Amino acid sequence: MRERLASRIRKILSPEEMLPLGGRQAKVISISNQKGGVGKTTTAVNLGAGLALFHHRKVLLVDMDAQGHVGTSLNHTSSNGAGIGQVLGAKNGSIMDVIVPTDVPQLDMTPSDHALLEAESQLASKIGREFILRKALTRARTYYDFILIDCPPNLGNLTVNAYVASDYLLIPCDLSALALEGMEGILEVVDTVNFRLNHPLKILGVVTTRVDRRNLLMNETLFAKLEEAFSDKLFKTQIGVNTDLNKAQLSGKPIFTAARSSAGAKDYEALADELIERLDAVIGPAGF
Ligand SMILES: Nc1ncnc2c1ncn2[C@@H]1O[C@H](COP(=O)(O)OP(=O)(O)OP(=O)(O)O)[C@@H](O)[C@H]1O
Ligand SMILES: [Mg+2]
Repeated sequence: MRERLASRIRKILSPEEMLPLGGRQAKVISISNQKGGVGKTTTAVNLGAGLALFHHRKVLLVDMDAQGHVGTSLNHTSSNGAGIGQVLGAKNGSIMDVIVPTDVPQLDMTPSDHALLEAESQLASKIGREFILRKALTRARTYYDFILIDCPPNLGNLTVNAYVASDYLLIPCDLSALALEGMEGILEVVDTVNFRLNHPLKILGVVTTRVDRRNLLMNETLFAKLEEAFSDKLFKTQIGVNTDLNKAQLSGKPIFTAARSSAGAKDYEALADELIERLDAVIGPAGF
């Protein structure tokens, strides 16, 4: 009887915690904005590649968007169709089972799959639905320095799962009045995650994307509004409009491989530098 009880408790306590650990302690960052097309995936892929290439960190990109754009951005063609949706649907699923390498050294990814399309609605009826991704990442966290989660363009169950699995939130935001309005919604979800789900998700920052440097006056006005709302959370690095970023995504390569000397490559290298600086200031270099 006692043995049966002990074995049951072990199962509840997550089998992942009993597996060998990789000795690292990943910082998990959700890259999210419910507005579509603001550069979430472009930022996840190129920031991830920048952290791996220039800062020698081991990085995992998790695609939480059924559009599967992380995979297409890194030329991933699924051999067996296994992906994150399958992990979320399985009992005790682990991200470790669906990790695939990319052509960039130190950069791995977990692709999205068909099951992710249904996951949003299926999660709705599950008890503890907000914690499924977090549990699935337990073991992976010990094998990486950074785990970047590319979120879908909404604030549904998959996004909440990403927030609850993350230490930090990075918000890419284009400089349009509509984008600023959308920020309210994100902050409300952060509040819910912090206080109702009792998870200390922190805002790492807001990064302006697709900035058209010819619209000086409009940019200044909108940037000032963002600064007023986010003060030092606003990244100094701005990601300018650069067609090389678009071409790189279409060719399935990070910008550093596709067009090393482009403006887009410089911007994303600067963003990786600023992110490392910011985290060093918050948790110290030893935090890695
Ligand atoms: N700085 C940029 N300059 C030029 N094109 C860009 C830039 N950033 C992103 N793009 C292009 O804009 C489109 C949308 O970018 P991306 O897929 O990164 O946005 P997203 O926020 O992930 O979109 P979704 O909400 O659909 O997931 C893509 O075609 C991408 O190549
Ligand atoms: Mg995307």
